Amino acid sequence: MKKDSIGELEREILFHNYRYFVLSDPLISDQEFDGLVVKLKKLNPSSKVLRQIGSDIPLSTKKNIIEHSIPMLSLDKSYDLESLEKWTENFNGDLVQSPKVDGLAAAIHYNRDGILACAATRGNGFIGENITQNIFMVDAIPLQIPLSNCEIRGEIYMNLSVFKQFKETFKSPRNLAAGAIKQKNPEKTKEFNLSFLAYDLLGKECNEEWEKIELLRKFGFHSVNSKKISKNELKQSVEVFLEEHTQYDYEVDGIVYKVNSMSEQKRLGETNHHPRYALAYKLQGESGITHLFAVEWNVSRTGTITPCAIIEPIKLSGAVINRTSLHNLGNFKKLDLRKNAKVMITRRGGVIPNLESVTSAGRGEALEIPKECPSCGRSVVTRDDFLYCAHPQNCRNTQISFLEHFVKALEIDGFGRKWIEILYDEKLVKEPSDLCTLTIEDLLKLPRMGDVLAEKLINNISTKKSVTLEQFLLSLGIDDLGGAVSKILADMFGSLEKILELDEEELMSIHSIGDIIAKNIVRGLEERKEMITKLLRFITIEKINPVSKGPLQNKTFVFTGTLKDMTRKDAETKVKSLGGKILSQVTKQLDYLVVAEDAKESTKLKKAREYEIHILNEKEFLEIIGKSDK
Ligand code: IVH
Repeated sequence: MKKDSIGELEREILFHNYRYFVLSDPLISDQEFDGLVVKLKKLNPSSKVLRQIGSDIPLSTKKNIIEHSIPMLSLDKSYDLESLEKWTENFNGDLVQSPKVDGLAAAIHYNRDGILACAATRGNGFIGENITQNIFMVDAIPLQIPLSNCEIRGEIYMNLSVFKQFKETFKSPRNLAAGAIKQKNPEKTKEFNLSFLAYDLLGKECNEEWEKIELLRKFGFHSVNSKKISKNELKQSVEVFLEEHTQYDYEVDGIVYKVNSMSEQKRLGETNHHPRYALAYKLQGESGITHLFAVEWNVSRTGTITPCAIIEPIKLSGAVINRTSLHNLGNFKKLDLRKNAKVMITRRGGVIPNLESVTSAGRGEALEIPKECPSCGRSVVTRDDFLYCAHPQNCRNTQISFLEHFVKALEIDGFGRKWIEILYDEKLVKEPSDLCTLTIEDLLKLPRMGDVLAEKLINNISTKKSVTLEQFLLSLGIDDLGGAVSKILADMFGSLEKILELDEEELMSIHSIGDIIAKNIVRGLEERKEMITKLLRFITIEKINPVSKGPLQNKTFVFTGTLKDMTRKDAETKVKSLGGKILSQVTKQLDYLVVAEDAKESTKLKKAREYEIHILNEKEFLEIIGKSDK
């Protein structure tokens, strides 16, 4: 067996050890666990992991929160080269430069055997959230290191190449990484393929910051793109960084500079907020401070009322920015905005403007949350972090935006917003299915409508009476059921009937769907039941040919126990390569549960029997993939 398979086994054992002894909530049976241990004993009898089983796990790891022995401070910021250069006058010697990765800070503790013991988020800097069980699922974090009783601090983040597939549904890789590391189901954390940049080592005396970086690299941490530079290389280092960072596979929001000499670091010390020996240089031209004029509230196609900041125009990265979305009510409340406050605006990834923070609150009047819908004037409701129009069915803007979305999703040409407004105001089209019953005569009643155009528009509608399932799902205009998720659901379940039966739990077992998305999808589909029935009178959903892309196309698999003839990862890769999908939990829609020989009674098995799912042993599974090979 290869070395990394031993590593995988050790990771699995430590994770299940934690579930059993710390959380008292095992996911596998005692026999399954013993099976893993026997296997490791055979493969690597001297593994330090064997010593950890059931042994004195510190009480602190049982709590939901973990106290930081040394506070996790913030970084002071600089926005121009001049102040950065001025700062370097405070100390002697070189600097260590590293990318400021946009993720979330975490502290990873290693015990006296150098084995991962527990992990916490930064939290408020003094107390963080216990994320130990999910940290086991981040392959970029070594399980054991050749240093005892130490703490590694760094940034958990998601590579842009991984984020690509979630772009439509999630605001930023940072938000998604934060959600992924706090998943209730650790298997899901694993699927998000998170990365980790280590930037600090506590518990080992070093003379230089650079020594720490080298040690961290030796321990197996990525400390990507860090460099040691002299003061007179500072300007050039910024220029090189600005040129190179666009090619990095992660989002950066600046450069971190630290004093290399530890004795100089000690001499400079720290404030309550930040160390004086480090500085974050925020990317030039991509952020700036300006005044907030007002907040405008706009109603979306689903009736969500979203705040948008109107700001004093500011030029950032070559474009003048005069407004920026504040995303949702929760974010608006958090920012605690006042008229004329000074606010910091950045262009995320150099493109999307974002109001990051209030730099000076000012004395202007507080900005109010609307008590009525800005479009229809009726009442509003608040759910979680969102504000909604309470009567979206009768709200003109909501309905028009919704129809506009429907037309775009089905790619019906010729129906711009203006025509939709006219059709709505003339009471010809109130909801999507009304488009399907429109006649040339109806259209000819409208101003500026000629025979040729009317015929063309009706013809455009009639060509869209057969659509793909993915397109149909997208056209429903449900929050969080965008292009990517529609495709996942269509590929996975193949029929609208199956998708309409899904509950939140089943949706959450799908890679990339979290609890909020699941909730929105279930609620959205429920709310649109009548609309769907009406649409299906006129629109047919094209049948997907299940064998078109691979022999296991659309077939879903869950594994339990340890396979004898291949690693779990290899088995999963094989299924995926044949067009199948891997789920982490048994759902009613599952096609196969593969049960390895050593798997005993487990929740997965019980559920599979209850739902009458096809259960395969390892031999049968190999046959399926073997046959498929031919
Ligand atoms: S050094 C005292 N290095 O930025 C904190 N921080 O705004 C010393 N960050 O909470 C941190 N990349 O989570 C350091 N290469 C890097 C970093 C980095 C991202 C984060 C870190 C910190 C935040 C401060």
